[in-house]
Amino acid sequence: MEIQFYEQQKVFMLHTENTTYSMAIVDDCYLEHLYYGSKIQSPNIRYILREDEPPFVPSKNLREKEAFLDCAPMEYPESGMGDYRESAICIRSVNGHRGSELCYSGYTIEEGKPVLEGLPATWGSEKDSMTLKVYLKDQLLGIKATLQYSIFEGIDAIMRSVIVENEGKEVVYLEKVLSACLDMEDRGFEVMGLFGAWGRERHIQRIPVGYGRQNIASFRGKSSHQENPFMALVTPETTQDFGEVYAMNFVYSGNFIAQVEKNQFDSLRMTMGIHPEGFTWKLNPKEKFIAPEVVMVYSSKGLGEMTRTFHNLYRSHLIRSKYLHTKRPILINNWEATYFDFDEKKLLEIAKEASKLGIEMLVMDDGWFGNRNNDDSSLGDWFVNEEKLKGGLHKLVEDVKKTGMKFGIWVEPEMISPNSLLYQAHPDWAIQIPQRSITQSRAQYVLDFSREDVVEAVYQMISNILRSADISYVKWDMNRQLTTLGSANLKADQQGELYHRYMLGVYKMQERLVTEFPDILLENCSGGGARFDAGMLYYSPQIWCSDNTDAIERLAIQEGTALLYPVSTIGSHVSVCPNHTVGRDTPFETRGDVALFGTFGYELDVTKLSDAEKELVKEQTQNYHKYNDLIREGDYYRLASVSENGHYDSWMVVSNDRDKALLFYVQVQAKANLKSRFIRLKGLSPEKIYILNGQEYTGDILMKVGARISPEFGDFKSKILELFQK
Ligand code: DGJ
Repeated sequence: MEIQFYEQQKVFMLHTENTTYSMAIVDDCYLEHLYYGSKIQSPNIRYILREDEPPFVPSKNLREKEAFLDCAPMEYPESGMGDYRESAICIRSVNGHRGSELCYSGYTIEEGKPVLEGLPATWGSEKDSMTLKVYLKDQLLGIKATLQYSIFEGIDAIMRSVIVENEGKEVVYLEKVLSACLDMEDRGFEVMGLFGAWGRERHIQRIPVGYGRQNIASFRGKSSHQENPFMALVTPETTQDFGEVYAMNFVYSGNFIAQVEKNQFDSLRMTMGIHPEGFTWKLNPKEKFIAPEVVMVYSSKGLGEMTRTFHNLYRSHLIRSKYLHTKRPILINNWEATYFDFDEKKLLEIAKEASKLGIEMLVMDDGWFGNRNNDDSSLGDWFVNEEKLKGGLHKLVEDVKKTGMKFGIWVEPEMISPNSLLYQAHPDWAIQIPQRSITQSRAQYVLDFSREDVVEAVYQMISNILRSADISYVKWDMNRQLTTLGSANLKADQQGELYHRYMLGVYKMQERLVTEFPDILLENCSGGGARFDAGMLYYSPQIWCSDNTDAIERLAIQEGTALLYPVSTIGSHVSVCPNHTVGRDTPFETRGDVALFGTFGYELDVTKLSDAEKELVKEQTQNYHKYNDLIREGDYYRLASVSENGHYDSWMVVSNDRDKALLFYVQVQAKANLKSRFIRLKGLSPEKIYILNGQEYTGDILMKVGARISPEFGDFKSKILELFQK
């Protein structure tokens, strides 16, 4: 890890273990992007900028300044001056003019990684991280932009964020502040993203990059089921093990845009940041705006390497929970078991039975508060429904604990039901446009989390509940998107701040929650997996991945999720069949095997299981204890994808010392007259001897020839194979 500025060449170079990122100062003003890719040493790379070719730099050819601005590879492009590609920043002056010229004005190189006030971000110490800050200034507006680039020891990633400060005398309006831009030559790139829907989150899509702009975005007020804040450009030959990958992932949970633009000169501009739709930020003199962090990863060894870089980074420099590196309690959630139809007796029955089978925590899901017997009411009324839970929460928790189980609870703090006492008392607390009816979704409105008084009141209600009993786990849900945007507290020229201020309110409350209750295991959730993003991981070490618990549907969902996010963060449970979402029957064993490569838990009425199924639960909970350390901490390798071959799926995790590995294989579709299949393993040590199915193999053989997997009779049959060093 090293950051250098070469005075003579006016070139910055950031070196991670295997990559280099470089930019140059041009014409004493413009910060231009030079290079991002495999490690290079020499700073003599300014020729990339073609400064000796027309249109030359403005100091030599002022009359063609527009042509210069529209083709130079810019580090942080601005709108309104002549660069017609996507801009990273757009500033409107108090007079209503758009346009800025942020000129280079200095730099600092510091040890450590700065905190982004109020925002989730990666963190590091002075020993394991370094930061370059490049300062840009617009003299006319008095605006200073600080571009921050941080790197970590041993990790091939670059963290970027931007701070915009008003050092002038007049107010300005920020109409767009993206967090990262990467200009480069096209090499026939394809663009990858994670797309989906409720119950079908994060399916991988890969398509060629064409001329014009292609984007992945959300302006739903959350990162969304539909499009995840991730984009990668990959060279066409890229597989798991070969090819070049440029990836960006946003450490943010609200509106975002990731875009690639191919221009007239066959160069690409990749950008990521807060979506400008619905965004304006009033910046008064002396105020600053902090744009959230983008993580950039370059891999020259295919997608697998990119995946493992993200996993390592997030496990070592993003997630803070004390549970990150520990086996988390195996939980049973009553949602699919009972939905709203439960009382304390039913919960205790589940807890008693579950405890006998090795399950360690009961999570009481939606329906325990106010008058909530269906999803029509009571959000915001965070007091226990004692008609349902006779004796109250404290008694229930103590009774559950007597069965040997811990207790967890579901909350949805950001919401308010029109049919709630809270709404009757504070109708203005809902996000709304005056005199316009609020668009309902699941019969609920969204609380105005941009308001400190609202966040404070909700925090008091929820924290009182948490203090009232011995609660070990909280599932923080968020079941709708933002509409009819308006805040009773914001002035007309600040309504465009609502989306982002809302997110800051959510982050503030989560921060307070994890600070006051550090022992509570927090799991984020949003109608399944609509907020599975790096922002949320800063607060919770796990996120509910999808409401779709069908083991076969989960293959593509968990494949897309694990492309970036560590397996240890993926909320996954065994549920009943026919599956409640798709009606499919799958073997109980397969449901267990798929859920094992995640946080692992159950979501069914354990009292209704057959004796044979109960025996399987015992086996699965034992397997969890046996394998979770390896799955949670190991390196993840994708071996085959049913989305590509239509027939089988396979992955493995390998311990950091490469002594142990666990291989997962599922035959999704049986076929007649098949022979056994050889699956080439990955990540093993070539010279080590491994025992697999009682036989000895060198790692080399298993990786070059493959492990032999026999076909099964029937669909959806999975197996887990253990490898350990002799
Ligand atoms: C959506 C979540 O994803 C489910 O697991 C469940 O908690 C429901 N909400 C409850 O309303």
